[in-house]
Amino acid sequence: MLAVKVPKREAEKVRRKLLELGVLAKGYSVKREGDFVFFPVTGPVEGFELVEAEFEKTGKRPHSYREVVEVPDELRPLLPSSFDIIGDIAITELPEELMPYGKAIGEAILKVHRHIKAVFAKGSKVSGEYRVRELIHLAGERRTETLHRENGIRLRLDVARVYYTPRLATERMRVFEKTQPGEVVFDMFAGVGPYAILLAKRAKLVFACDLNPWAIKYLEENRRLNKAFNVIPILGDVRKVAGRVKADRVVMNLPKFADRFLKEAMMSVKPDGVVHYYGFGPEEDLFSEHEAKIKAVARELGLKVEFLDERKVRPYAPRQFNIAIDFRVE
Ligand SMILES: C[S@@+](CC[C@H](N)C(=O)[O-])C[C@H]1O[C@@H](n2cnc3c(N)ncnc32)[C@H](O)[C@@H]1O
Repeated sequence: MLAVKVPKREAEKVRRKLLELGVLAKGYSVKREGDFVFFPVTGPVEGFELVEAEFEKTGKRPHSYREVVEVPDELRPLLPSSFDIIGDIAITELPEELMPYGKAIGEAILKVHRHIKAVFAKGSKVSGEYRVRELIHLAGERRTETLHRENGIRLRLDVARVYYTPRLATERMRVFEKTQPGEVVFDMFAGVGPYAILLAKRAKLVFACDLNPWAIKYLEENRRLNKAFNVIPILGDVRKVAGRVKADRVVMNLPKFADRFLKEAMMSVKPDGVVHYYGFGPEEDLFSEHEAKIKAVARELGLKVEFLDERKVRPYAPRQFNIAIDFRVE
């Protein structure tokens, strides 16, 4: 098509002039070659060098994979409106009806989100002591290790071998903001260290325990990556560690079973120290059951607790929430 050829240094001035004259052709990308810029025009323009050139059509880039994916129309309403992004890996949750179209869905995600290199579907619920889930490869690289950024820290992790969810980033920042300089922190269920490494920016020392050897391997790597040398990784069952560590702040991020470890948490907290407890609760009564368990264990140990803060962290299942209770142990 017809184009105006101008030296690079004059390009902006000429672009404005062509716009003013109303001759700049819409829907094409401006072309750059060496020291020259080529503007597509709708017809001859006096006073400029005119040449013949080819231009790429711009066209609006789709924002969502749902705009480009090909699935039968009746299944379209089932396409998930969001998915988790961990580093350069996407993890989506597909209803059974959409599983036969997993490859097409994965490829559409890769096409629209250029920074994503691998797409997986959740193949099971989070389960077992390590709290991991099966993943089904849909498209892109068959790789499960990635580097994720959260709250200003970098976390290397393998999404198939360790627990990690980006959905707790805000909650982790909340606990960070409560952490005071000089504190000793005990992260009882540390995973790859999203709490431990973050809190180590303020705390004096962070003991970070986990049962999963893969979690501790990545925690050690993340400690180096973030120069968080005040994090002390501990591989093993927290039951064997509790009581030997004395901390100003204890983090219990194991919502499925945290109630079974309340004794260990209270044995590890210094007088007037704070425990960040997590659990799951039904919408109609989020906290009562957990409060009762916390009070019962405190009574058993001859301690007193003061509830400082209670909140919903995120939805977990229909009418169920992941909840947080912060309490002080006197
Ligand atoms: C829900 S994940 C939380 C990980 C991390 N805090 C996070 O926010 O990503 C719970 C972690 O607790 C670990 N775990 C489970 N039982 C444990 C035990 N008895 N002692 C130590 N760690 C345990 C699991 O391996 C898992 O990494």
